[in-house]
Amino acid sequence: MKLEINQLSKTFGAQRVLCDVGIAIEGHAIVLIGPSGGGKSTLLRVIAGLEYPDSGDVRLDGESLRFDEQSLRIHRRRVGVVFQSANLFPHLSALANITLPLTRVFGQSNEEARETAMQLLRRFELGDHAGKRPAQLSGGQRQRVAIVRAVAIRPKFLLFDEPTSALDPEMTSEVLDMISELRAEGRDLLLVTHHLAFARKVADQIAFLASGQILDHAPNAEFFTSPRAPAVQQFLDRVLKY
Ligand SMILES: Nc1ncnc2c1ncn2[C@@H]1O[C@H](COP(=O)(O)OP(=O)(O)OP(=O)(O)O)[C@@H](O)[C@H]1O
Ligand SMILES: [Mg+2]
Repeated sequence: MKLEINQLSKTFGAQRVLCDVGIAIEGHAIVLIGPSGGGKSTLLRVIAGLEYPDSGDVRLDGESLRFDEQSLRIHRRRVGVVFQSANLFPHLSALANITLPLTRVFGQSNEEARETAMQLLRRFELGDHAGKRPAQLSGGQRQRVAIVRAVAIRPKFLLFDEPTSALDPEMTSEVLDMISELRAEGRDLLLVTHHLAFARKVADQIAFLASGQILDHAPNAEFFTSPRAPAVQQFLDRVLKY
């Protein structure tokens, strides 16, 4: 994925959440880190076509995002998004949560959608849980179903916003294993995470966002080994302390 952002700004009321964000970065796995409230989710949502910026330009693989409703609808079909909490429909089975977008948005037949969904569920060892509703699944299973739902639409890009922050350590590893596997397949992904060890493992590129600005970015190996800007170093020292 090639991500180019120019002078991107976003305000909520009086608060400037993204302030002239600029970055040009390329890699299969781009990881975004930074302190809470820094604007990571907002940036990810803009890239996903779920939030309008006030100004600025976002290019994905050389193509500018257009922020009119019709272009956004098309863009959203190319992007699979997984949020902190799985956001599954509570009244539908895992299977139906995955097939619904395929039939409603992508026009697949019920059989075709079911086939796609079951194949992915089995692949990620969720086949036995296909008929369960979200409340009958563990947190880790729910999150893996949400990832299957995002992957099932065959997105060009997968975006993850702290997909493990609501999970305990064991469930966290099941979800991170799944993301590693998708990464190993060469899928393009953009991941917001506070798991620096995981970032170190999967990222090609790491970017640091704080107070609405990209303060630093570098290839993975470099990011953790060479000295960084003071604000970044402070953050790393704080997070890596325990
Ligand atoms: N819809 C909204 N309306 C008003 N303010 C918002 C909205 N979304 C985000 N904000 C504000 O924008 C700032 C950045 O929020 P954002 O969620 O992008 O940060 P973040 O880096 O993802 O933080 P965290 O690591 O805690 O998830 C915060 O101060 C937040 O309160
Ligand atoms: Mg966030």
